[in-house]
Amino acid sequence: MKVTLIGAAGGIGQSLSLLLKINLPVGCELCLYDLNPSTPGIALDLSHIPNKVKVTGYSGSDSLISALENSDIVIITAGIARKPGMERSDLFNANANLIRNLMSSAAHSCPNACFCLITNPLNSLVPLAATVLKQAGIYNPRKLFGVTSLDIIRAESILSQYLQRDIMPGEIQVIGGHSGQTIQPLISRVSGHDLDESEIRSLTQQIQDCGTTVVKAKAGYGSATLAMASAGMRFISSLIRGLKGEENIVECAYVEGGSPYSKFFSQPLRLGKHGWSEAIDPAPFDAQQQRALDAMLPSLREEIALGEKFCG
Ligand code: LMR
Repeated sequence: MKVTLIGAAGGIGQSLSLLLKINLPVGCELCLYDLNPSTPGIALDLSHIPNKVKVTGYSGSDSLISALENSDIVIITAGIARKPGMERSDLFNANANLIRNLMSSAAHSCPNACFCLITNPLNSLVPLAATVLKQAGIYNPRKLFGVTSLDIIRAESILSQYLQRDIMPGEIQVIGGHSGQTIQPLISRVSGHDLDESEIRSLTQQIQDCGTTVVKAKAGYGSATLAMASAGMRFISSLIRGLKGEENIVECAYVEGGSPYSKFFSQPLRLGKHGWSEAIDPAPFDAQQQRALDAMLPSLREEIALGEKFCG
């Protein structure tokens, strides 16, 4: 299996490269690509870790096609990160062209790959990527994912600190999208506690604000990279297990066509041999969750329309 990481020299890219080199199944090829000329050197550096994952590295626009060819999974972390005071949506103009160009190369070089997007604003760039793939005539919605696992691990970590117990993977679902109020953790479903509405509201807000607090705390030097890399690794491991035929692998991700609430929506997905095989409807919602869902859908739909319109 060939896993290609686009944006491999960046903050998320380097951390995720290391995690992939260490954790990918034996026999996988890890291909690193970035415009940055240090990328072959990053691959060489990683190749000194002794295991059976082969690493290759490419840099510069001329080698993008070579990097993408024969990929089974393409992960995209490339793009500009936000600075304090910016919303994720402020990155649209900076990152939209980049994603359009990358997806259009990928559509021609590895049309059957699973595409996993991490670049912001995810709520708009996944619909944009879908439009590029549709225009290329090779779109398979089961194979295009916006990776929202960062919201899941943040919810797990915040709840585990608050409830003073471990939160196991799968215990907390985060639905919707990946910005502000579109990030909806279904906290009241976590069993073994009796949180009231105001505690749930405050924990929800904390989870929604995590990205912004990291951007502020990094003081102009970027956004979350390390937790994002860990979340990305978790998603890619599950995706590979599904592709290899393991059953009952469930992860939340932002995809098209799995939800009655919005054209693109993040929810639990069963992962299978050909991408996601089943979207698991997170309903029924309690009154607080229903209000939150109703409140966020208009902005989620606007963000989706922005991405779709970009390619005409
Ligand atoms: C995050 O949630 O940390 C990322 O989406 C990066 C950002 O700008 O917040």
